[in-house]
Amino acid sequence: MVGSWEQFFEQINNITVKLTPGCNLKCSYCNVEAAGPKTPIMAIERFKQIADLIIKNSTSHFVGLEFHGGEPLLLPDEWFEEAVTYARSLGREHKKIVDMPMVTNGTMLTEKRLNKLLDLKIRVCVSCDGPPELNDELRGGGERVARALNLLQRRQVGKGVITVMTQSNWNRMPEVMDWFHEIGVNDFMINFLQPQGRGVAGDLLSGEQMFEGMREVFEHMHRNNMAVHEAEVTSRIERFARGRDKPAPLACHEFQCQAGRSYIAIDTFGTVHPCGSDVMSHRIGHLDTPFSDNQYQNMLAKLHDKGDWILRCFDCNAKQICNHSCPTSDKNSEDFRDHDCLGTKMLWDYFCQNADRVYEVYAMYLERQEELERRRLVLREEAMKAREAELGEVGGA
Ligand SMILES: C[S@@+](CC[C@H](N)C(=O)[O-])C[C@H]1O[C@@H](n2cnc3c(N)ncnc32)[C@H](O)[C@@H]1O
Ligand code: SF4
Ligand code: SF4
Repeated sequence: MVGSWEQFFEQINNITVKLTPGCNLKCSYCNVEAAGPKTPIMAIERFKQIADLIIKNSTSHFVGLEFHGGEPLLLPDEWFEEAVTYARSLGREHKKIVDMPMVTNGTMLTEKRLNKLLDLKIRVCVSCDGPPELNDELRGGGERVARALNLLQRRQVGKGVITVMTQSNWNRMPEVMDWFHEIGVNDFMINFLQPQGRGVAGDLLSGEQMFEGMREVFEHMHRNNMAVHEAEVTSRIERFARGRDKPAPLACHEFQCQAGRSYIAIDTFGTVHPCGSDVMSHRIGHLDTPFSDNQYQNMLAKLHDKGDWILRCFDCNAKQICNHSCPTSDKNSEDFRDHDCLGTKMLWDYFCQNADRVYEVYAMYLERQEELERRRLVLREEAMKAREAELGEVGGA
C-alpha cells in the first residue's frame, strides 16, 4: 500500500514533465492536442516540487526529468536556467545523477538558445518526419527543423531525432534516411502513429504498412552499411539475434511496460499520469491533493490488463521481437494492437527468411557501438589532459 506522494515517488526514476499544453505548431496527429503558442506554462515552483519529490525520494541513483509538452521551447531560457540549476544542486546534495533531456519540434531553436541549452547540459531531441516538404504534410516548420538539425550537427553534439511513421511517410523511408544522411543525422528512432489525441484511428497504419516501413528501414541499414542507424528496428534485430535478455529502461517493449510504475508523466498544472503519450484518459492523481492508493491501484490494474486477446501470444514465435503494443493506445483503439501484431509477425517471417542478412546488420551495429565507445574514451582522455594542463598552468603561475 502506498500512503503518500513521498512514498509513491520512491519507485519513480523517470518523469516526462509537460511544461506547457500549447505549441507554435498544430501537427495533425498531435497526441496532446496542443494548440496555440499563447499558453500557460509550468510555474517554476511546480517544477521544483516535482524535482524535490523525485530527487529526495527515489530509490534510484539515476533519475530523469524530461522536458516535454506541448512545445518546451515556448518557455524562456531563464526558466530552464533556474529549473536545471535547482535540480542539479539538489541532485548533488542527495547523490543522484539527474538527466534532463528535452523533446522539441526544433522550430524555435536558434544558435543562442542551443548554446544555452548545451551549457545547461540539456540533451536535445528533435522531432522530424523527413525532408521539409514531407515533414510539413502532417507537422509543419520543416525548413526551420532542418536548420535546427544543422545547428546541432555543426556543434557535433549527440542529438536524438524522433520520426513518427504515418500514412505520409511509411513508404518513403529510404528517402527520409538518405536525407538524414545528407544533413549529418546518423541516428534516429521511428514511432508508429498512435491513436491518441488528434491521432485518431482513421489515420493508423495497417499491419502491412508497418511491416513495409520497418522492412525498408532494415534494407537501408543493410545496403548502406548502417550509415544511418534507426533504433526501433535495430532493437528488434537485437532481440532476434540474441533473445530478450536486455529490457529497455522504460520497458516500453516488454510484455508489461513501466507506465505508472517506475515511469510517470506530470502535466503543466500538477496532474500525474502513468505515461506521457496519453494524458487525456489515465490519471494517478494531483500533486496538490492527497495520494489515493485506491485510485492508483485501480488505474494501474485497468491500464495494464491486456484481456483475453493476449492469449494468442503464448505460442507465437514472433514474441521474441514483439513490443506487445502500447497499453494507452490499446485502450483507445483495438485496431492498433491488431495492426502492430500483424506488422510484427510479418517482420519476424522476413527476418527468418533473411536471417544471414539480419546477423550482418547486427554485426554492423555492434561494430558501430564499439567505435562510439572508442571515440567516447578518446574524448574523455583529451578532456582530462586539457584539465591537467590547465591545473599545471595555474600551479606554475
Ligand atoms: C507531443 S510531442 C511534444 C514535444 C514537441 N512539441 C515535439 O513535437 O517534439 C512529443 C513527441 O510525440 C510525438 N507524437 C505526437 N503525437 C503522436 C502520435 N499520435 N503518435 C506518435 N507520436 C506522436 C511527436 O512527434 C514528438 O516526437
Ligand atoms: S507534436 Fe509537438 S510540435 Fe506537433 S503540435 Fe504536438 S506538441 Fe506541437
Ligand atoms: S506478434 Fe502478436 S501474437 Fe505474437 S507476441 Fe506479438 S502481439 Fe502476441
